[in-house]
Amino acid sequence: MAFSERNAILPHLLTLSLLAISVANQAIGIRIPDQISNPSTVPSDQPLKIAVFALGSFWRSEAIFGCVNGVVRTTAGYSGGSKSNPEYRSLGDHAESVQVQYDPRVISFRQLLEVFWSSHDSRQVFGQGPDVGNQYRSVIFTNGTEEARLAAVSKEKEQLRSRSSIVTTQIQQFVAFYPAEPEQQKFELKRRPFLLQLMGNLPEEELERSSLAAKLNGYAAELCPPKIQNQIGAKINEIVRKGWPVLIGV
Ligand SMILES: *[C@@H]1O[C@H](CO)[C@@H](O)[C@H](O)[C@H]1NC(C)=O
Repeated sequence: MAFSERNAILPHLLTLSLLAISVANQAIGIRIPDQISNPSTVPSDQPLKIAVFALGSFWRSEAIFGCVNGVVRTTAGYSGGSKSNPEYRSLGDHAESVQVQYDPRVISFRQLLEVFWSSHDSRQVFGQGPDVGNQYRSVIFTNGTEEARLAAVSKEKEQLRSRSSIVTTQIQQFVAFYPAEPEQQKFELKRRPFLLQLMGNLPEEELERSSLAAKLNGYAAELCPPKIQNQIGAKINEIVRKGWPVLIGV
């Protein structure tokens, strides 16, 4: 890929436009992707935190969390099992999981738990919809006693919403997260070549680290909250309507 292509002006404009949405509406928090700004998107004295959840197919899980305000980066992968070096076709006893890097000044672990509960059916036994099997089980991975407590409290609350079935979600001490293969990352976004092109066809490593890609991955799957979904759609339409050069021939 040509260097100039990677630095096409359009992704900058898209980012800046989405940032404008962000300022106008606190619900959206798109950050400047790494290729534009300093590699670190937040000051180093404000470290990001990491959370890992399993809630069915990691394609969908990554898309759900990617659109959440305060989530800076997402990675699809494997966690919760004992097999070392799991792979997509042989993940052993691991669950398909999403690793979420988040800014604790914007969103808390407790709020991430709310997203977790509201984004899947925690009462389905070992599966989500048509995806059936141990790899699709529901798990909250916790790091330390405070997260374990918050997870337990949230699970009790969820169970109290209805007693007619059992919440199957497991709460496990986090041990290890194995990132999945590149082709499993930002899967929903990759089904929309047009969106990839809009971002300037980032190389794989940049795509995986990009906050904008995480957000557009949620948009591509139509898993952003409706308001955000509409705002991003409107912004993209506006960019397309203006017919900026990089779009010719799309
Ligand atoms: C777990 O928490 C500790 C202390 O809060 C932190 O240093 C460590 O990076 C965390 N590990 C993960 C995987 O988030």
